[in-house]
Amino acid sequence: MKKRDFLTTFDLSSNEISEILHRASAVKLNPSSAPAVLAGGTVGMLFDKSSTRTRVSFEVGINRLGGNAVFLTSSDMQLGRGETVADTARVLSRYLSAMVIRTYAHRSVEEFASHAKIPVINALTDLHHPCQALADMLTIQEHKGGFGVKIAYIGDGNNVVHSLVQAAARLGSSIYIACPEGHEPDGGIIAHARASSTAEIVVMRDPVEAARNADVLYTDTWVSMGQESETAERERIFHDYQINDMLLSVARPDCIVMHCLPAHRGQEITDSVMDGPRSVVFDQAENRLHAQMALMEFLLSSL
Ligand code: CP
Ligand code: NVA
Repeated sequence: MKKRDFLTTFDLSSNEISEILHRASAVKLNPSSAPAVLAGGTVGMLFDKSSTRTRVSFEVGINRLGGNAVFLTSSDMQLGRGETVADTARVLSRYLSAMVIRTYAHRSVEEFASHAKIPVINALTDLHHPCQALADMLTIQEHKGGFGVKIAYIGDGNNVVHSLVQAAARLGSSIYIACPEGHEPDGGIIAHARASSTAEIVVMRDPVEAARNADVLYTDTWVSMGQESETAERERIFHDYQINDMLLSVARPDCIVMHCLPAHRGQEITDSVMDGPRSVVFDQAENRLHAQMALMEFLLSSL
């Protein structure tokens, strides 16, 4: 069978996403039911950007599936000295069972995947964060009992919201994205999500209007990795795009608050919301592990 990659959520059908989330819930309830799909195998983890959750949850998940992880960075490999992505992919495919990659240009993971003989998983690029979206939908399912909800995403039109909108809309959630002018999500990604679902996808300016009657309030950093030189300007532009008690007050009383983390407390989210009773951010972080284990089980057992 042809190997499967997970570079964007569109690499899975909506039925396959549901199946993986179902499996993630089952293994979360009964961890000993995790199959040893990686027994004797090793997964490469190439990370060119910092990570806490993604790195550790993958390493733990790989171990629980019977495998080992080898942590790599481009600068320590011959990649950093000019060996091509294609040759690196061909060589690593001879040793490894799968590859997890976090890097800058989305094109680099596509190029790696096109030359690799093993499944390639996107652990975040500048454009997408599909593993995050799987954990996000698992968290919404657990806390809301299903996907028929209104999600309001407040902040930067970045990698996290790109993957969230692609997954959430296909599972039937409506999503309102409030962002400042010039920081909207990618138009092509939004158009693709709209063409693939009947869900409401609205891009707007006003965070209060977006948050009104929302079931889920979601935010992410104003300054993503690689944008550090724009920090001062972004802190000014995004000043009003904060999840705080006022914004929470216009959402539904049983609204949950989500953040992919790491949070910049006092910027995109206040302490009182992050630490308050509506916050599910640590359940969401835990779900990275369960969702990724189910994803690896799916990709490796379909080989
Ligand atoms: N949410 C997330 O991907 O976190 P890390 O950057 O810590 O992996
Ligand atoms: N948008 C953030 C997500 C971090 C998990 C970034 O790319 O830095």
